[in-house]
Amino acid sequence: MRVLITAGPTYEPIDPVRFIGNHSTGKMGYALAEAFAEQGAQVTLISGPTSLPNPASALITTTRVQTAAEMYEAAAAAAPGADVWVFAAAVADYRPREVAQNKIKKDGETLTLELVKNVDIAGTLGKTKRPEQFSVGFALETNDEEAHARGKLQRKNFNLIVLNSLRDPGAGFRHDTNKVTLLDAAGQMTIFELKPKAAVAHDIVQSVLARLPLRNA
Ligand code: CTP
Ligand code: CA
Repeated sequence: MRVLITAGPTYEPIDPVRFIGNHSTGKMGYALAEAFAEQGAQVTLISGPTSLPNPASALITTTRVQTAAEMYEAAAAAAPGADVWVFAAAVADYRPREVAQNKIKKDGETLTLELVKNVDIAGTLGKTKRPEQFSVGFALETNDEEAHARGKLQRKNFNLIVLNSLRDPGAGFRHDTNKVTLLDAAGQMTIFELKPKAAVAHDIVQSVLARLPLRNA
């Protein structure tokens, strides 16, 4: 089994010293890479900037990227050959239209940056998904969680979506724990308890394996 995983944030440069980013640590994506490798899968881990070391397992190949565009290039190269896609990255939705060549000086009282939309990595690759391939997405929501997650499941052609609610204490960014709800394309919902991220990763891997179309082929 070959697995493609995106993880961590993306950094979108503003000038040579600044960027737009987010608080993703990459922990959930890295934990998933380890959990799939434990099942004997060959994992391509495409990681945005994180402070985590590359996973040590010989089954995991880590590629480091900075921007959403770079993450898309790396993911698109690996996607056709992977049986399972896991989009755990917190991709910046927008990037500065122009990257200043030199450090922007503190001139006026206000500064306006024009942002343009980044490529939707999961959504774009979702259009190329073959029937035997399996795609897993993530959704971090603050309100109307289930409806938003179901919308993303459909729009991005996911087979399974992992929902984090920021209303759950101990879930989401900056924690070593997570509390997730899984929604699948058949409409089944599974609610898990608050657990260490490694245990959450194990639950997600088991949920994927149980749903793989060609599991015994
Ligand atoms: N995703 C992606 N590329 C993007 C944005 C999101 O691959 N440019 C993936 C994420 O990795 C995640 C899923 O899509 O698996 C949902 O991400 P999310 O940010 O919740 O969805 P958006 O479509 O960006 O919607 P919004 O931020 O407006 O809620
Ligand atoms: Ca987003």
